[in-house]
Amino acid sequence: LTDTYTLSNGVEIPKIGFGTWQIPDGPETYDSVAAALEAGYRHIDTARAYDNEKSVGRAIRDSGIPRDQIFVTTKLPAQAKDTASAEAAFEKTMSELALDYVDLYLIHAPWPWEEMGADYTAGNIAAWTVLNGIHEAGRSRAIGVSNFEVPHLESIVEATGVMPHANQIRWFVGNTQPETVNWCREHDVLVEAYSPLATGELLENEELKGIADRLGRSVAQVCLRYALEKSTLPLPKSTTPSRIVENAQLDFELSADDVAALDALDDPTA
Ligand code: A2P
Repeated sequence: LTDTYTLSNGVEIPKIGFGTWQIPDGPETYDSVAAALEAGYRHIDTARAYDNEKSVGRAIRDSGIPRDQIFVTTKLPAQAKDTASAEAAFEKTMSELALDYVDLYLIHAPWPWEEMGADYTAGNIAAWTVLNGIHEAGRSRAIGVSNFEVPHLESIVEATGVMPHANQIRWFVGNTQPETVNWCREHDVLVEAYSPLATGELLENEELKGIADRLGRSVAQVCLRYALEKSTLPLPKSTTPSRIVENAQLDFELSADDVAALDALDDPTA
C-alpha cells in the first residue's frame, strides 16, 4: 500500500488507490474512507461529480494522518469546458474538500457525459490550460485526464506542449484498452484503472475463479494483482470493510501463464 509509482514530474503516487465512485456523500463515504485509511491505503480517488468530496475531505482531516502522507485525487467536472467554469469548479472542489492542495487533478472526461463522443477539442484545451495554471501555482502536485483516448490526448498536448501525468480509464481484465495504454506508456503517462473489478461483474467469472482458487486468493485480488502486473494503478471501490482490507492484500505474484490466461479473457461486460 505504500509502494509507489513515480509520475513523470517526480511525484510519487501509491500503487493502489481507494475509489469512491458511487458512494453517496455522508456517513457511507466518511466511513469507507476512514476504513480505507485505517487499512493502510494512502491514496483516495474522488471527483466533483461523485458529490462526496465533503465527506472525503472530512475523513482525511479527521484521520490524524499527516496530509503529506495521503495522496488525494479529484476531477474537474466533464461539462466544464471553458476557462471560467473550470476555474470555478476547482474552487468549489477545494472548498468542499477543505484541504490546502490536492495531489492529482484530472479532467474527468473529454466530453460532457450526456454528449459522449462529441468533439470538445477547444474546450479540452481551455480546461487543460486551467489545470496547468493550477499545477504551476502548486495547488495540485500533478495533473492529468480521465477517459481520454489517443486523439484527445494528442490534441491537448499539441496545443499546450504539456503532457498529462496520468490518464484514468475504465480498465479491467478483458478490457485493457491497448491503444490508449500503449500511447500512455510511450509518453510516460501513468494509466490508472477505474472499475478494476468491472464494477463487480468480473467476480463471477469461472475462469477467474479457477485461477483464484488455485492461488488461494479471491477473484478481486487476482483482478487487482493483474492490474499491477500490467503497470496500471487500480482504484477498487468498496463500502464493505472486510473487502476494503482484502483489496489491499496483493503481495503475491501471477505466473506468466496466469497472466496469459487473463490476457485472453473476453470483456464480461461487452
Ligand atoms: P461493495 O462496495 O458492496 O463492497 P469496481 O471497483 O470495479 O468499481 O467494483 C466495485 C464493486 O465490487 C462494488 O459493488 C463492490 O461492492 C464490489 N467489490 C469490491 N471489492 C470486492 C471484493 N473484494 N469482493 C467482492 N466484491 C467486491
